[in-house]
Amino acid sequence: MDGFNRSCVLALLASLHGTCVSAAPHPALPVDKTAFINQLLEQMTPEEKVGQLRQRFTSSEMPEPEVLQTIAAGNTGAMFGAAGRAVLRTLQDAAVKHSRLKIPLFFSYDVIHGHRTIFPISLGLASSWDMDAIALSGRIAAKEASSDGMDMTFAPMVDISRDPRWGRISEGFGEDTYLVSRIAGVMTKAFQGESPSSPDSIMACVKHFALYGAVEGGRDYNSIDMSMVRMYQDYLPPYRAAIDAGAGSLMTALTTLNGVPATANTWLLQDLLRRDWGFKGLTLSDHGAVAELIEHGVARDGQDAARLAIRAGINMSMSDTYYGQALPGLLRSGEVSEQALDNAVRHVLNAKYDMGLFDDPYRRIGMASDDPTDAHAESRLHRAQAREVARKTLVLLKNRDHTLPLKKQGTIALIGPLAKNPVDILGSWHALGQASQSVTVYDGLKNALGNTATLLYAKGANITEDKSSFDRLADGKIDIDSRSFMQMREEALKIAWRSDVIVAVLGESRGMSHEGASRTNLNLPGRQSELLSALKATGKPLVLVVMNGRPLTIGGEHDLADAVLETWFSGTEGGNAIADVLVGDYNPSGKLPITFPRSVGQIPTYYNHLNTGRPLTAGESALYKSQYFDLLDSPLYPFGYGLSYTDFSLSDITLSTQRLMTDESLDASVTVKNTGARDGETVVQLYIQDISASISRPVKELKGFQKIMLKAGEERTLHFTVNEQDLKFYNSSLEYAAEPGEFNLQIGLDSQNVKQQRFEWQCDLCDTAI
Ligand code: NOJ
Repeated sequence: MDGFNRSCVLALLASLHGTCVSAAPHPALPVDKTAFINQLLEQMTPEEKVGQLRQRFTSSEMPEPEVLQTIAAGNTGAMFGAAGRAVLRTLQDAAVKHSRLKIPLFFSYDVIHGHRTIFPISLGLASSWDMDAIALSGRIAAKEASSDGMDMTFAPMVDISRDPRWGRISEGFGEDTYLVSRIAGVMTKAFQGESPSSPDSIMACVKHFALYGAVEGGRDYNSIDMSMVRMYQDYLPPYRAAIDAGAGSLMTALTTLNGVPATANTWLLQDLLRRDWGFKGLTLSDHGAVAELIEHGVARDGQDAARLAIRAGINMSMSDTYYGQALPGLLRSGEVSEQALDNAVRHVLNAKYDMGLFDDPYRRIGMASDDPTDAHAESRLHRAQAREVARKTLVLLKNRDHTLPLKKQGTIALIGPLAKNPVDILGSWHALGQASQSVTVYDGLKNALGNTATLLYAKGANITEDKSSFDRLADGKIDIDSRSFMQMREEALKIAWRSDVIVAVLGESRGMSHEGASRTNLNLPGRQSELLSALKATGKPLVLVVMNGRPLTIGGEHDLADAVLETWFSGTEGGNAIADVLVGDYNPSGKLPITFPRSVGQIPTYYNHLNTGRPLTAGESALYKSQYFDLLDSPLYPFGYGLSYTDFSLSDITLSTQRLMTDESLDASVTVKNTGARDGETVVQLYIQDISASISRPVKELKGFQKIMLKAGEERTLHFTVNEQDLKFYNSSLEYAAEPGEFNLQIGLDSQNVKQQRFEWQCDLCDTAI
């Protein structure tokens, strides 16, 4: 807003002759950022500097006078958790109208998979393998969040996870480094748009640096211990991809990495992040993580914790206690240098500058006269886009004898605790999504069927009978029916007997796949499996629609059901999107971004594991082979798997050469044919295996994919280019290089069912002794 520029920035600029010129990206924005920030720093007291390093929480209620006073006293750099333009305006007023230096606050929020219009959870978005759809979800989230006054989102969360016991697996994009890295870049760019300074952009804060998804046993906040090769090869690239895409900020993990908490980890925050990767942005601790250094057992007290964190490279402390309490004293005693403090403050101010807040602190909050009369107004939603994206995230896991799509006639029994449930369908981290605006499966089917078929509904079972343990995880919103399971099942069976087909919508409550929500058992919770068995006994065609935030061990349910549709938590328009697929108005094309285990005991089941010296080989004796003798060796559903209402065939692979030289490319082509009766999309996936190298390499790794639409009967030849870059890996000295030798190249419609060819890479310049 002009007032701010007149009152503060221009006053500062008056001493910086000639720094404000009309060629600047925003006319009023001072072009010499460094000079501007240096000038500002010179005017700040140590207390004001410390204040900039504190990010504080407030709810969306009108802030307490104490909060406003603290801001006006210059003791706060940013706020998170508050939503709504009026609230944010009041907070910003306290900073820019009442604090001495009038430095604006920035406002952050967990905009993870949508803001007001909720898109499918991240694991669902990844199932689309559709970068345009994913980008659209991020761009719309940014537009909606920025028009509510937000400047930053705590996303994308790009933690690779191979353990579905971990509830936060729902928030990430799956198990594969290549796919998650692609999405990390796409999401970062989508949030930030043209620039983080644009009024309709929000700054991305990539998290959780680093390796949060590798917590031992999948128990949230647990320790992480990992070899450097695995770290560099598999877990670090997605963070790097977000940074290379321009992410303006980064959040550390709440966990320890090889014994050192990420929040006190100099190697992570300085050597790797700043020195090796060249990150110039802002680093944030996670919520309360500086104080948690005491519980981690690396800090004696709050003072020690603040000292360790700022020295390691945490610029801003989220939900801060000890930066505020201890840094002024640490500065006086010389335990923290003025240079270290200035360095952290400079990053905060740089971020504010990059968000355009020195140009206009109200650029996203806007003027009160423009505030929407109803913040939840329908006109502020993006329903068509949410439905379009959600349809792409649904994964057809089984379809015996074309049980699906449903005929738009006769009687359909819709049964299950998630069938008419507007709360859980929004998923974890639903930001400002309103349950009253979400479309349930019941609503969606009603819309799709109109008067052509009869839709009967019964709840059938509760998601869980254990209200107390899950209440906490669902904001008290778990809807537990007081009737007994027997009563509910009987009601469900009555409508099942009257119907031509049964659609059972079963799964988890959204809070079960969330922060602090790890599970030791990945079965359908409660008595839902019993319900499914009872429904099966009717002999009617049985469709299972699963709603969940993680892979579940649903092998038994897979066997019972004639068709299985994985729908994750699909958001505001989820019910319409699911109905589109159920009745065949949309042909599903989603592919799993994560392996489904048969049993918790099999975890981890990631597809790109190393070979052992004794792999189990089909057709050979299983004695003394690497396997569990009490269960099949394969996963329930492999990475990359997903069916369609049509069928696709793949030709053998043609290679342009079987001998690839340095600086050359190889072309691998396949012809994909839609052999079925309807148009459809599929994802053609390229995998490479380095057969023999200086260290053991994975059995295969995803290196590319193409999502294509083919009309019924149509065929198309696809080309994949492979060069030295695709063959590189981190060796035991952490050098990133390809090694000459033979490689298997595989192309398939999932990670297991593939065509294969072999080629050799010859390296003119390599040391042949390798
Ligand atoms: C803690 C979570 O770990 C983090 O991902 C989130 O952004 C913050 N809380 C703020 O809600």
